[in-house]
Amino acid sequence: MFITLEGIDGAGKSTHLAALAQWWRARGREVVLTREPGGTPLAERLREMVLHDAMDALTESLLVFAARREHVLRVIEPALKRHDVVLCDRFTDATFAYQGGGRAFDRAVLLQLEAWVHGHCQPDLTFLFDVPPEVAQERRAAVRQPDRFEAQNLEFFTRVRQAYEQRRLAQPQRFALVDATASPESVAAQVLAIMQERAQALGQPGGAR
Ligand code: TYD
Repeated sequence: MFITLEGIDGAGKSTHLAALAQWWRARGREVVLTREPGGTPLAERLREMVLHDAMDALTESLLVFAARREHVLRVIEPALKRHDVVLCDRFTDATFAYQGGGRAFDRAVLLQLEAWVHGHCQPDLTFLFDVPPEVAQERRAAVRQPDRFEAQNLEFFTRVRQAYEQRRLAQPQRFALVDATASPESVAAQVLAIMQERAQALGQPGGAR
């Protein structure tokens, strides 16, 4: 099972990766925890460039898809062949949201890149952690030094959020919307309840317990 977590910076998604991993391990499943851009040594080097070096939107899109190609071939597909559960912090929805929405880059080009890079390999379930950009901005300010994306303004994150919402509406069966304005405990409860329901619906070993 291939599960991805998405949302604007500051939505709090990364906190819930560990809880999901624990949930699956308690049901006897091997879990691969990974992230994008990144997940292999080469892809992590590309991540550093994408997050910190100035570049235009096409270069940015090519680099995130180059990192993704490497990640899909070396980590995600082998794990899915072993029937492990793959939990990935961001995937191609982030490219449609940040490069397509935030940077207003051509979605037709992104669709073509997606088809070349991993047309055959798609998530089974995507948690979309949704918060208003104002709330996310406050959370980010409390935590750390911003990278190239985190330093963007509210209009940028409003476009990113809208692009995520468009993806969700286009594929409602894949997405699970999480209200991430709630307390971390309440968000965690929502996430695990959704996981239970979807695992059963997808007939996953461990899901019925
Ligand atoms: P993020 O996942 O938020 O990691 P951290 O919690 O360590 O900051 O950071 C990754 C950033 O990369 C995020 O701002 C979104 C951006 N990004 C893209 O612009 N396009 C992509 O395709 C992906 C996967 C991420």
